[in-house]
Amino acid sequence: MSNSFTLTNISQLVTNNSAIGDGDLGVITNAAITVTDGIVSWVGQASDADSSVAKTDVGGRSLIPGFVDSHSHLIFAGDRSEEFAARMAGVPYSAGGIKVTTDATRSASDDQLRNVARDLITEMQESGTTTVEIKSGYGLDVANEERSVRIAAELTDEVTFLGAHVVAPEFANDADSYVDLVVGKMLDACAPHSSWIDVFCDRGAFTTAQSRRILEAGIAKQLKPRIHLNQLEQGDGITMAIELDCASADHLTYLTDADITALAASNTVAGLVPGADFSTRAPHYPRGRDLLDAGAVVALSPDCNPGSSFTTNMPLMIALAVREMRLTVDEALFAATMGGAISLRRDDVGHLSIGARADFALLNAPSYIHLAYRPGVPLISTTWKDGNVIFTKGDLA
Ligand code: NIG
Ligand code: FE
Repeated sequence: MSNSFTLTNISQLVTNNSAIGDGDLGVITNAAITVTDGIVSWVGQASDADSSVAKTDVGGRSLIPGFVDSHSHLIFAGDRSEEFAARMAGVPYSAGGIKVTTDATRSASDDQLRNVARDLITEMQESGTTTVEIKSGYGLDVANEERSVRIAAELTDEVTFLGAHVVAPEFANDADSYVDLVVGKMLDACAPHSSWIDVFCDRGAFTTAQSRRILEAGIAKQLKPRIHLNQLEQGDGITMAIELDCASADHLTYLTDADITALAASNTVAGLVPGADFSTRAPHYPRGRDLLDAGAVVALSPDCNPGSSFTTNMPLMIALAVREMRLTVDEALFAATMGGAISLRRDDVGHLSIGARADFALLNAPSYIHLAYRPGVPLISTTWKDGNVIFTKGDLA
C-alpha cells in the first residue's frame, strides 16, 4: 500500500524546474507538495492539492530542495584549530597541513572515524543538506585509504577515492613512487568501495602530469573523475580536467579568462568552495560571476575538512557566494542544490519535479532569500530525505 503525505501552505516552493514555476528556480507560491513512497508525486497550488491525502500546514514558510554537497572530507581524526588561529595571525595556508591530520587519522579506530563523520553528517542535515559526497585522503597508505572509503561507503553512495590528496610523508622525496602506489595497490584496494577518483592538483600536492596519471588509472577502473584545482596558484590543469571529462573541477580560486571560456564550453562543473577561501584568507574569492556570465555550471559546497574549511554549513556558502562572488540569491541557491546534483551527475536530487526523491528542507522564513539575507542564522526547521524527517527543530506542526 502506498504511503502519501502533503505539506501545504508553503509560501514559496522552490522546484528548480522552470517548466512548473517562476524563473530558473521554478518557484510556486502558495504551494503544496505531495510525497508518495519517498518520491515527489505532485506539486502545485495549495488549493489544487488532493483532499484525500493527509495534510500538514507549514504555516506560510518556504520549502527548498535539500542541498547537494558535492565535496567533503569527513573521514579524519584530530584537531587543527591552532593551525587556523595561527593562520588568522598571519601564517599562510599550505597543503602540508594535511599530514597533521594523517597522523591522527592513522591512529584512530574505525569507530572514531565513523563517529566523526556521522556527527558532521548530522550537522549537515541540521542545515538542510540531504546528499553528500565523501572523500578519503587522510590515510595516505593502502590500509588507511581502504578503510576510509569503506567507512565512507557506510554513510553515502557518493564515495571518492582521494589517495592523491598530498604525497604521503614516507615518500616525501619521491613523489612519483607515491603516485605508483596510488595507481597500483591503493587503487586496487579502494576502487571496490568508490564511485569517484579525485586528485589535489596544486602547489605542494600533485603536478598536472601526475594528476593525469592518477585520474586515468581511476577511469580505467571505472571510477568517474573529479579534481581539486587551482586553490593555491594559477595552474595549467583545466584543459586536462576537461579532456578527461571530470564531472567537476573544484576550488578554482585562480582562473584565467581562457580557463573560464573552456569550462563554459565543457561538461565540467565549476565547484566553488568559498568556505576554504574564507578560512584560509585567500587573497580573493573565485570568479563566480564571470563563470556564470560565460555560461558555466556552478556548484557550491562548504568543502568540510579539518584544515582549510571546517564548516558543514551550505547556507553560509550561499551568503558568501552572494556577498563575495556576486551571484544572485537565485543563482546561489541553484548552485547549492541543482549545481551539486549536476556535479555528481545525478538527476534524482537537487530539484522537486514529480519523480524526484523527496529530499527537501523547510525554512523558518517566508522567502528563500533569507538564506543570504540572514547570514549565520540557523533557518532550517525540518529536513526530509526520501520522504522521512531526518532533522526537525520540533516546530513543524
Ligand atoms: O579541499 N585542497 C585540498 N584539500 C582540502 C584541504 C585539506 C586540509 O588542509 O586538510 C581542501 O581544501
Ligand atoms: Fe577539498
